[in-house]
Amino acid sequence: MKKRFYITTPIYYPSAKLHIGHAYCTTLTDIFARSKRERGFECYFLTGADEHGLKIQKNAEAKGVTPQQFVDEIVEGFYKLWDLLKISNDDFLRTTQERHIKVVQDAFTKMLNKGDIYLGKYEGWYCRYCEAFWTDTQVGKDHICPDCGREVQRAEEEAYFFKTNKYVSSLLKFYEDNPKFLIPESRKNEMINTFIKPGLEDLCVSRTSFSWGIPVRENNKHVVYVWLDALTNYISALGYGSENEEKYKKFWESEDCEIIHILGADITRFHAIYWPMFLESLGLRKPDREFVHGLLMMKDSKMSKSKGNVVDPYPLVEKYGVDAVRYYLAREINFGSDGSFSPEQFVERINSDLANSYGNLLNRTVSMINKYFEGKIPEYKGQVTEFDGSLESMIDNTIKSYENAMDDLRITEAITYVNELVNRANKYIDETTPWALAKDESKKDELASVMNHLARSIYVASRLYHPVLVCASDKAFTQLGLTEEEANYVNINNKNLLDNHMVNKGEPLFPRLDPLVEVPFINELMSGNN
Ligand code: MSP
Repeated sequence: MKKRFYITTPIYYPSAKLHIGHAYCTTLTDIFARSKRERGFECYFLTGADEHGLKIQKNAEAKGVTPQQFVDEIVEGFYKLWDLLKISNDDFLRTTQERHIKVVQDAFTKMLNKGDIYLGKYEGWYCRYCEAFWTDTQVGKDHICPDCGREVQRAEEEAYFFKTNKYVSSLLKFYEDNPKFLIPESRKNEMINTFIKPGLEDLCVSRTSFSWGIPVRENNKHVVYVWLDALTNYISALGYGSENEEKYKKFWESEDCEIIHILGADITRFHAIYWPMFLESLGLRKPDREFVHGLLMMKDSKMSKSKGNVVDPYPLVEKYGVDAVRYYLAREINFGSDGSFSPEQFVERINSDLANSYGNLLNRTVSMINKYFEGKIPEYKGQVTEFDGSLESMIDNTIKSYENAMDDLRITEAITYVNELVNRANKYIDETTPWALAKDESKKDELASVMNHLARSIYVASRLYHPVLVCASDKAFTQLGLTEEEANYVNINNKNLLDNHMVNKGEPLFPRLDPLVEVPFINELMSGNN
């Protein structure tokens, strides 16, 4: 039986518009989901919106609308952005949906009845103006509210707590038994050394200082703390605890399904420490893998709405196309490390990898097949020229290395294998010199073999690029005369696939960008003056 995958992004706060850092996380998750599906695996891909909390309540008040109206409008923008970026999610969970609220309340009750949640007192630094509690580190030595800059006071409020220490030893054992749970591995050491070893405090899981949240059923002065609310989305979306648990059984309970959470480095602690504890308290299975990606920086500091140094993905996609943006994000920033967005590198990447290497290879090949074979791709006749063998083994190796890298979420690396194949195919043109072969009638078979090998190289590269270049790869298939069905991944190893297909010359896949025009344009977008 085929293995299944359940893959998730974090659910984003609809406190303001999304920026390219959020688009980065969702796009990379989408690339992984698409690559699995294209290879014939069943994959359920979830994203969503984390709609409760003080910040949203405040932003709504400032705008003079209800919190629900406020999030409804912003979430519309999420849908549009994911549409624009061709995100292939199967579901979109909003934490204000009934299907979610009930699951959170049930989970809270279950933990309370089990004695894992108890009523106590929360002590911290309180900002009267923001009506928010802050920790020692957040207020610093001057005791200043990190949000409004006013002085904060020591205060306490009644709150529910989750007994973290009850689950510490089993969490450490879980890390030990599942070395692949947290990737990259350095994240695990960070969790242990920074948070677990110094001693975990019981986690406050309710608030009384604001009302925009899921009420605690047993005591409705309280709303459920936003992280217990948010993390539960991963199971509520599957119908856990509902009348129809079919999806939950298939994608969470079943051992045939691999559960993968993708998340940014800033929220590792919640996913790697508290989420497994909550699941254990509920008696549920833990995820198989949590992949922590780095943060996209802007001018050496984290891109964030509050700093106002964000890159808006909308105009970027509108101007350069969805493929260029998806490609840049996946290729330029090594998945798992921090990176920074740079207009110069954006233009350079598109020009060198997509316009010059990939687009040009397709363009040259289709032109030559038109010129030398009246548009008909010659049949595969084995290894005819002295260079065919090495190109064929490069194709085989590329497929294997690509699949292995993708399976391990080494997405950037997977793409570089395809780039290398494209470069190799371009070099093959220089080695075989088809223009010279064409002048000599006795070399007709060699020329035919070169065209067939080139067409197949482009097919394989396009197939492997497809999860990233969702539009251009399809155009390449069309130019090679392949139907959607023929282009299917099941044919990736079929050497005769291209035989006798008629090529269709099309527009260049990626027109070259002029850096002198485009770099200033993108800089302007980033300054927010657009
Ligand atoms: N709502 C919580 C997540 C709850 S998941 C159960 C949250 N939301 S968020 O909107 O602030 O961030 C969501 C994700 O976007 C996080 O994984 C975060 O790392 C990612 N990113 C936000 N800014 C980013 C960059 N500048 N770069 C890369 N990813 C970034 O946290």
